[in-house]
This record gives sequence, structure tokens and C-alpha cells, in this order.
Amino acid sequence: MHRVTLKPSGLTFSVRPDQDLLDAAAQAGIAVPAACRNGVCEICEARLLAGHALNTRNQQTMTVPERLMLCRSLALEDLQLEINAVMAAGTNQPREYRARVVDVRSISHDVYRVELQLPRRRELSFHAGQYLSVNLPDADPCYFSIASSPTESSIELHIQAAPDWVSAQKVIEALTSGSEVTVELPHGKACLAAAPEKPMLLVAAGTGFAQMKSLVDYLRTTGYQEPVKLFWGVRRHEDMYLRSLAQQWQQDWPPFTFLPVVGDDEDNDWAGHHDQLVRAVLASGVDWKHVEVHASGSPTMVYTLMDALIDAGLPETAFFSDVLEYAPRT
Ligand code: FES
Repeated sequence: MHRVTLKPSGLTFSVRPDQDLLDAAAQAGIAVPAACRNGVCEICEARLLAGHALNTRNQQTMTVPERLMLCRSLALEDLQLEINAVMAAGTNQPREYRARVVDVRSISHDVYRVELQLPRRRELSFHAGQYLSVNLPDADPCYFSIASSPTESSIELHIQAAPDWVSAQKVIEALTSGSEVTVELPHGKACLAAAPEKPMLLVAAGTGFAQMKSLVDYLRTTGYQEPVKLFWGVRRHEDMYLRSLAQQWQQDWPPFTFLPVVGDDEDNDWAGHHDQLVRAVLASGVDWKHVEVHASGSPTMVYTLMDALIDAGLPETAFFSDVLEYAPRT
């Protein structure tokens, strides 16, 4: 193994001689902005400060002070690299950025898919599962989960904007009428700094699916092999706005199982929507002592789920949700 030190953050990680630097950083829980993973987009660029590395595109040895792409470089010895936008778990302070609105489209009767592009993307890093705020002038910040993986160059949001939800309607109006918007990120501790070494259970209600999409997209890029089960609960069939995408994951990715829970199914004899989702999760046959759970939805759903799973044997430290941070129980 070789040791890699990142400047100016001082973060360090180990890398096998046959492992690219981007992969080794991710395994160590260090988020590096990346997109193509093929040496083309140059988002994962760093400058060599000490040591020799091998460029796997052309098999050339790189020396100080050459620039290298982490995704296409192997360490030939211990290295020092200069790279600014890296972060260990939860260490990046949120900052405001002006984002370019690339696309806004309706994907269900009340959910919009939004794509944003940030200038100087390589200066920003976040973890899968984190969220951002859209900051409009003269309005409180509106918070949305990031639906895309940190390894992608653009940022995807799923915004539910029912006609009577005034603040979300204002955000959609601002996004569709303007070419830029102010966002603040990264927020949230219920995220993945690195792929865990145990199975994952993801539970989403409504647009809580966005956070789970970021986690799934990220886990797929890491080559994660442990089982991943996604429960997605909605009130009505038409609310499951990306059902075909979740079904596609199940077809393409062997560790993944999709378990939709729909309140208006004819065989549904459970009274409460949240109880229904929680009962479905409890009946899943998971080994609660050996799983990591991420949940996204209303505080009622999340706390009902958390209590039920801890009663079933889940260690409290294995349950993650932004709700625990923004709506703590008193
Ligand atoms: S050059 Fe695109 S991720 Fe490395």
C-alpha cells in the first residue's frame, strides 16, 4: 500500500498499487468531485507535489509538478497531491453558489425534475444523500435533497409543488423563468461518505425518493456488492413518479431489490399510510443487527419507523435520517 496526502486539507488515505486514486479516496470516505471516471472531464484533477504516479491512459510516469486525473492515476510510491474540493465526512461548510438552470420538467402530476449546473464544479464536493437550499430573494430558504450522485457533473432535484404549496410553487416559477438561482450546499449528516461494509435498507416516502436515488447512484459507482433493499411508499400509484427507474435498477443491478408500497392498492387493509410502510419494512426479513438504514420522509413516518426497527433489534447508530437533525424529538 502507498500513502497519499492531500493538501491543503491534510486528509490522507491508503491506495493499493493497482487501484486508481479516485477509487481509493472514495473507499476512505473522502469525497472528490468526479464525473466521467475516464480521464476526460478533468473534474478530478490534482497537482502532484511529491512522489511519482502512473497515468493509466498512456502508461507515462508523472513527476512533480504535473497535473493528474485521480481516476486515471496509480501511485508508484507515497504521494502528496494538491486538490481543493475534497472533504471527509460532514466536514464541508455550506456555501452559496450561483447555479445555472439547465432543465425543469414535470415528471408527474405534482413533481418536477430540475437539473442545475454549478460553475467551477470541481471546487464543490458533497456526499451522497446530502441536501441543498434554494435561496430566493425575500424568502426563507427552501430545502431539497440532491437526487444525483456526487460523482455526476450536474445536480438533480425532485421538487414537489402541489398547487396549494406556495413556497415550492415560487421556487418552480423562479427556476422556469430565470436562467440562474442561488443555492447553498452541502447540508445534512445522513449521508454516505463511503460505501458501508454491510447491507443497506433504504426507506422513502413520496419525494424522499430523491435522497435514495443519490445513494443508489453513488453505491453503483463504487461497485457495492452487499444487498440493497429500497422501500418506496406513496399514497396513490400516480405519486410514484420514477417507478420505472427503480424497476430498471432492479433489472440492471443484482444486489438491488425494489419494494413499492402503495396506499390505494386493492389488497391494502391497513388504515394508516405510514403504518403501512413501516409494517412492510418490518416484514422484510432483514437481519436488524447487521444492516444500515437510511430513511427519508415526514417526521411522523421516520420516527414511527425508527422506533419500530429499534424495538426489532436495530442498533440506534445504524439508523440515519435528516429528520433527526431538523426535527429532533424533544
Ligand atoms: S477526469 Fe472525469 S472523473 Fe476523472
